[in-house]
Amino acid sequence: MEEIRLQKRMSELGLCSRREAERLISEGKVKVNGKVVTEMGVKVTSNDVIELEGNVVKSNTKTVTYLFNKPIGVVSTAKDDRGRTTVIDFFTKEKTRLYPVGRLDFNTSGLLLVSNDGELTNLVTHPSTHLNKTYFVTLDSFVKDEHIKELEKGVLLEDGLTQPAEIELKFRSMNKTQLQITIHEGRNRQVRRMFEHFDYHVKALNRDSIGFLTLDGVKRGEYRLLTEEEVNKLKKMCLTNKEKNIIPSYKIKNK
Ligand code: URA
Repeated sequence: MEEIRLQKRMSELGLCSRREAERLISEGKVKVNGKVVTEMGVKVTSNDVIELEGNVVKSNTKTVTYLFNKPIGVVSTAKDDRGRTTVIDFFTKEKTRLYPVGRLDFNTSGLLLVSNDGELTNLVTHPSTHLNKTYFVTLDSFVKDEHIKELEKGVLLEDGLTQPAEIELKFRSMNKTQLQITIHEGRNRQVRRMFEHFDYHVKALNRDSIGFLTLDGVKRGEYRLLTEEEVNKLKKMCLTNKEKNIIPSYKIKNK
């Protein structure tokens, strides 16, 4: 029987993300076969009984994934030490314990997946998955063509060179530029940092899509359940990209 790390098992059981599991373990909230576990290295099999805050976790929890339209001023964590509104506060009527899949900045709005599906979370957030993520960006100045070309090719940020991106200019004047950018990575504050690299300031940022998923029909602050077909398609897409190590729709633009 396969032995896996406790935090991985907790995420597979749909309890929380691996990172959140590590926090819960270190806070002494997790028991394995009746004993509190606080170290990180512990491995378990599917025969071990896991308890979280006194409740035995059953492995047949139905997995669900929601497509949420995040407003600005909301944190992408399950809990916030500073008492700010979290994305999970929008899901109080759902019975399952949910957590955000990846994150959007406090001041970024748009598409965020919220789930209890550990497998989907690990696939979507894994760096080798290269899912397309499209953002609508509003800047408070004129963005030069040469900078657009450089951003498309890749720019050197403090955590390395960005992969090629696609940019579609929507509007441009002396004190405003609006564009859509598609990236294939999910680094922290990536879009803002890409523009800051050329001293531009992002005034507003909205994630319009992840892969084939869009915000169509989902108003700000609202969500919808993904269908089984959508979940399977998303997982398949992640696995295919990972295996082939491809960047979908990546095209070198000869400008
Ligand atoms: N890039 C950013 O800069 N912020 C986000 O929230 C997402 C992508």
